[in-house]
Amino acid sequence: MNPWLLIYDDDDPASEGLREALTTLGNGYFATRGAAPEAHADGVRYPGTYVAGCYDRLFSRVAGRTVGNEDLVNVPNWLPLTFRVDDDDWFAPGTVEFLTARRVLDMRAGVLTRLLRVRDFRGRITRLEQRRLLSMDDPHLAALRTTIVPENWSGTLRVRSALDGRVVNSGVARYQGLAGRHLVPISSHAAHGVIGLLTRTATSRVEIALAARTTLTGGHDHADGGVSHDARKEWVSDERTVEVAEGQEIVVEKVVALHTSRDRAIAGSESAARTAVARAGSFEALLGRHTRAWDRLWQRAHVTAEDADVQQVLNLYIFHLLQTASPHLAELDAGLPARGLHGEAYRGHVFWDEVFAFPFLAPRLPEVTEALLRYRWRRLPEARWAAREAGYTGAMFPWQSGSDGREETPRLHLNPRSGRWLLDHSHLQRHIGLAVAYNVWRHYLATGDTAFLAGFGGELLVEIARFFACLAVREGDRYAIRGVMGPDEYHDGYPDRAEPGVDNNAYTNVMTAWLMRRVLDMIALVGAGRVSQEEVDRFTAMAARMRVDFHDGVISQFEGYDALKELDWASYRRKYGDIRRLDRILEAEGDTPNRYKISKQADVLMLFHLLGSDGLGEALTGLGHTWNSAMAARTVDYYLARTCHGSTLSAVVHAGVLAHVRPGASQPFLVEALNNDVRDLQGGTTAEGVHLGAMAGVAVLFERP
Ligand code: BGC
Repeated sequence: MNPWLLIYDDDDPASEGLREALTTLGNGYFATRGAAPEAHADGVRYPGTYVAGCYDRLFSRVAGRTVGNEDLVNVPNWLPLTFRVDDDDWFAPGTVEFLTARRVLDMRAGVLTRLLRVRDFRGRITRLEQRRLLSMDDPHLAALRTTIVPENWSGTLRVRSALDGRVVNSGVARYQGLAGRHLVPISSHAAHGVIGLLTRTATSRVEIALAARTTLTGGHDHADGGVSHDARKEWVSDERTVEVAEGQEIVVEKVVALHTSRDRAIAGSESAARTAVARAGSFEALLGRHTRAWDRLWQRAHVTAEDADVQQVLNLYIFHLLQTASPHLAELDAGLPARGLHGEAYRGHVFWDEVFAFPFLAPRLPEVTEALLRYRWRRLPEARWAAREAGYTGAMFPWQSGSDGREETPRLHLNPRSGRWLLDHSHLQRHIGLAVAYNVWRHYLATGDTAFLAGFGGELLVEIARFFACLAVREGDRYAIRGVMGPDEYHDGYPDRAEPGVDNNAYTNVMTAWLMRRVLDMIALVGAGRVSQEEVDRFTAMAARMRVDFHDGVISQFEGYDALKELDWASYRRKYGDIRRLDRILEAEGDTPNRYKISKQADVLMLFHLLGSDGLGEALTGLGHTWNSAMAARTVDYYLARTCHGSTLSAVVHAGVLAHVRPGASQPFLVEALNNDVRDLQGGTTAEGVHLGAMAGVAVLFERP
């Protein structure tokens, strides 16, 4: 078993979406799902290409309301390439029988290969080998090389290469009631073996330009040979016709350039794409530079496992992380989308999931973590405005972030089980700001860069600290934070209280105390700057006096958790089997998770994950609480028994935390964390985009001693 290869040996429509996501190729600037070039979106296959940071907002009517949704745009498809023999059907899903259908992702080289033998309805057998890359060397280039061999026939072969701007965002079934037509066609052109397509996004008005140069070698001239074009506004193709003889090899190379009007150092997106494609070398030349770039990247990011199967998964997860957070990201204004550039789940938004990636990325690719923090810093004005609008000072970062940093969390979400649209309060996860602050600190620890702390890193820390200082209210000798949500999204309020949010979520409060300590550390290192003495006093007081509740000798996930009911886990398991999405199950039953002691994912245990057992101990004793290893073990056991792991992040956290606190119990979570995406454990979600936070979290698990 070669741990650098991910191989699929058949054509399995039921797994196609998952395989497309897992064989996505990308370079940090853009990524393309591993869809077949001869296919279009048909319910089984879903070609998708996404450019980092390229969003567009559309409005839809849902459940009687107008809602705006900003999507990471599925840009025009650069892949289309197909052929036909004589005047028969074009090669497409359903027109041939697959005798061999092998797909090999080479993660070391960043190359996806398809090996096909197909038989058409006349019994003609054709062999195809198709390799593609998205250049890690030049992030605007991609290439597709197809070798076609007629095994048992001779005849006229027509090859069509196209750029398709008719695509829409329709990759997630749950969003299908919402607007998804983001592309407005502008123009196309075709001349001298090069085709080009220019479109723009509907409301953000980002121009997207593609240019493709297709060459064909082999075969003999045909009477109506040469190249013919079909250029429409939203679709452009060229077609070549040659006479081929049995056994003869035809090679078709398609080299593609992609630019948008957001790029730097260009005169215009269209001219930049045309120039790039004209200057790009052959597939072989591009491949050489591309694999050397990957070599360099792997030298910085490889993590070793003893077992070959584990190594393969580890390589795959790091591969996808690097394809999204590649060094090219350092040149861009983009965050780390929770689901990569691999699909449309969560609309390509940026959440707190970066917190799982920073420990891995910061020591290896600090230019990338710096860029991710710059993405946040550029959106400070928006976060400040959001804080002011809500009645606070400082900066309130959005739970879901896209183009300009406003809150992108949808106000309504669909429960597919009940068919009901429900109010979504997950924007109350104010702990997102704590994640940004944590990432600032990780970046500083990895780089030792005090200029960063004295500069924009420190500005982020202070502005976030100001927000939490204002959010917290003094009650007696403690500081309380009311009306928020913790990482466990299954509790968005109390069963008997109308306004949403819970009080004194332990994760939020302990991390707030942690943040205050880090700000004080920062001030000790680089000076107070514009932080007033009054603020320093407030930060100091909060560092020592944040409220944390306990019950039964364990940390309470939030105030009042103790009073909630126990769920009859056994009966739910018996009735439903998979109970990861207990929120949907309970809502469909007319009930609510708010009534029960259940958690979607690690919440209190996130404190162990981020701070370590010792760090958590220090934080709690620093807050004046008694804490010891017995309480730690009891807390871990308590929440372990009440968590249903409805997020891929949960297994990762549990695997790591249990390894320290309950070593014997860690293994099943490690296995689950490894299988999360490769086996699509959340039932169909990987097809809509990989889970980058969980992937990064797995890499971190293996680098730990
Ligand atoms: C998890 C969040 C996560 C989001 C994006 C949700 O299911 O509960 O913690 O940030 O997915 O990955």
